[in-house]
Amino acid sequence: MTSTPQFLGRNVYDLDDYSAEEIMYILDAAKGMKEINLREYKKIPTLRGKTVCTLFVENSTRTRMSFELAANRLSADVVSFQASISALQKGESLQDTVYTLDAMGIDLYCIRHSSPGSPQMVHKYSGKPVINGGDGRHAHPTQALLDIFSIWEKLGDLNGLKITIVGDILNSRVVRSNLIGMKKLGMEVTVCGPRTLMPGNMEEIYGCRVEYNLREALSDADIVMGLRMQMERMTDGLFPSLEEYSKHYVLSKDTIKYAKKDALIMHPGPMNRGVEILPEIADSNQSIIVEQVANGVAVRMALMFLILGGKA
Ligand code: CP
Repeated sequence: MTSTPQFLGRNVYDLDDYSAEEIMYILDAAKGMKEINLREYKKIPTLRGKTVCTLFVENSTRTRMSFELAANRLSADVVSFQASISALQKGESLQDTVYTLDAMGIDLYCIRHSSPGSPQMVHKYSGKPVINGGDGRHAHPTQALLDIFSIWEKLGDLNGLKITIVGDILNSRVVRSNLIGMKKLGMEVTVCGPRTLMPGNMEEIYGCRVEYNLREALSDADIVMGLRMQMERMTDGLFPSLEEYSKHYVLSKDTIKYAKKDALIMHPGPMNRGVEILPEIADSNQSIIVEQVANGVAVRMALMFLILGGKA
């Protein structure tokens, strides 16, 4: 007999800390949360009296807003740390920032930071559970959970499904967390991009297939995910120009035809339209990019509910 997974007080640094069974448990909880999100009155009192802090020290639209909406929908109080107008600008350290916030009674931190390992530091300084909303190039576990949820919702059983992830693999925290989660759930993952944007030993580390030719990579894919060209993390001139990248790797009607008919099209956002994906694909009937964003609220509600021990 398997026991019910325990989430109370746990951190979410990345998906390697979670078993396949635990990931499916979170997705199942998110399914229930999505039903709440579809109601006319979208709020439940389950986290009344709890306080959630979004501590974002790197830019974000989707992740930050969906963490805040998720907490609001569960009736938690939300404080939103604005790095650009905070005492960080006067030289205050992350440690003192967390001590300061914690003195005000935070129960859960959701953090984004350009430095890998920042979520662990926030937990060390506060002793409170922390959900990683993206730390440098390292991990973005809630994005991976919402991506996997979106696929599961559309296609059902994940075991054996083939996904091709195309783009800037080197700089992507999304691809790393997705690889960990998707492989645990039995999916077959192919990563594709220019050699200069492909880390070494991907097959050995993650058990994925590596392809440099887009046509080969897309062959027989059930799902195709584009990744953003992360210009802000590229310092080495890793390819000649965005035009050169697009010529070989853009997701368009011409290239997507090599995947399965009606393959799902995904992108974590934000998109560089015309660089890694054309509007004809991003806005097509096959695209679930907007649904990914909606599912992000439900997945983050589920995590907050489980970690803070919400009352069902
Ligand atoms: N996908 C994602 O992390 O988007 P934001 O940077 O807008 O949060």
